[in-house]
Amino acid sequence: MKRELFKTADGSMTIHLPDINEQYHSKHGALQEAQHVFIKMGLQHLVTQSKDKNIAILEIGFGTGLNCLLTYFEALKLKLNIDYVGVEAYPISSNEWKAMNYGSLLEKEEATQVFENIHVAEWDKRERIVESFSLKKEEKKFENINENSVFNLIYFDAFGARVQPELWTETIFEIMYNALKPKGVLVTYAAKGSVRRAMQAVGFTVERLEGPPGKREMLRATKSVG
Ligand SMILES: C[S@@+](CC[C@H](N)C(=O)[O-])C[C@H]1O[C@@H](n2cnc3c(N)ncnc32)[C@H](O)[C@@H]1O
Repeated sequence: MKRELFKTADGSMTIHLPDINEQYHSKHGALQEAQHVFIKMGLQHLVTQSKDKNIAILEIGFGTGLNCLLTYFEALKLKLNIDYVGVEAYPISSNEWKAMNYGSLLEKEEATQVFENIHVAEWDKRERIVESFSLKKEEKKFENINENSVFNLIYFDAFGARVQPELWTETIFEIMYNALKPKGVLVTYAAKGSVRRAMQAVGFTVERLEGPPGKREMLRATKSVG
């Protein structure tokens, strides 16, 4: 499918898919959205709930690597050890990731280098970005995830239900539920009632939270039982 570069309202880049009129991030601000939905409502929340500094994260839709980059810096700040798995069936090209301006926007000297390290890391192999942050980018479909009780946190960042309704179903949320450890948390930018009900149907406890700029609400689902 055709992919184009697109600058969002906070100045950060994303990828636009003209054939289906969908973006990898919110047009209101890719960086702001990722920081709010995944870092603040996901990672920071989890850290306040548990004293465990070892956190295994599964990202649904590795895409540009923005969530991974933000997680890296948040983990350094909070002194966390992260094992990160990013699942992606259609990796972007080096020309595309080089056009993403996240490194320069983060105002951290080493951000551009870290972003490059994340992208040059081999696929389907666990790599250490630094001692406290390991990354495994898995080139496969979400439908083929079959881990059981492995992850503390899932960043559910698939394309919207309008374009990929099959990814917002009980079948997929059951895969996510199984992949999480007890008390594990899934966060997503989506807020639709049908999505919330599909999560609840597989056993999640779901909260509606304030959304990122430009969006009223988002969802956080917790695996409340073992
Ligand atoms: C919203 S974008 C992800 C954005 C990403 N988290 C980021 O920060 O750039 C959704 C991603 O899911 C991938 N994708 C779509 N369908 C998939 C599937 N069935 N299995 C695996 N990846 C899929 C797309 O290629 C795309 O990269």
